[in-house]
Amino acid sequence: MRNVTLIQIFDHPIAQKYLQRSGIAHAVSVAFHAYRLSVKEGVDPDLAVKAALLHDIGHYEWYTDGEWDFEQYKKNDIHAIKGAERAHKLLVRLGEDRQAAKEIALAILLHTDSYLPDGSLSQNPLQKVVKLADEMDEEPDGKHHYRRISEQTARKKIQELDQLIEQRKRPLKRTV
Ligand SMILES: [Fe+2]
Repeated sequence: MRNVTLIQIFDHPIAQKYLQRSGIAHAVSVAFHAYRLSVKEGVDPDLAVKAALLHDIGHYEWYTDGEWDFEQYKKNDIHAIKGAERAHKLLVRLGEDRQAAKEIALAILLHTDSYLPDGSLSQNPLQKVVKLADEMDEEPDGKHHYRRISEQTARKKIQELDQLIEQRKRPLKRTV
């Protein structure tokens, strides 16, 4: 049994607010990529998918006169740090296991090295899965943040992921 499900996270007002900002469609696709990669790499899918769903919730809106200010963003962005902290707070509030909350937060913190000095990042397998899943869904000029998905489809997909993870966690039944 998991302490916290994806749909519980998704339905929380804090997740809603920040997922809408960075794009629900992107978050959901990255979550699916992370599920597949975690199964392939032998990483806990529950941790990988939660980190993937929440990986971009630390974004700030860098608008100047109604236009996205890419220079400001590049210079000042710390979304991985902010996202790790937000996700950790949200997960603990929902009753997540503390060790799991820490691992998920660290995977979010290290899903990008864009804010770190060159070559200073070494990642564990969970962190690699989340980074790769994000890269698999990236589009030029940050277009992946603006793709749309209906609320209903998003919830359906997230519930599907919850089921896939539950099935993986359940011990295999003996048939003989
Ligand atoms: Fe992303």
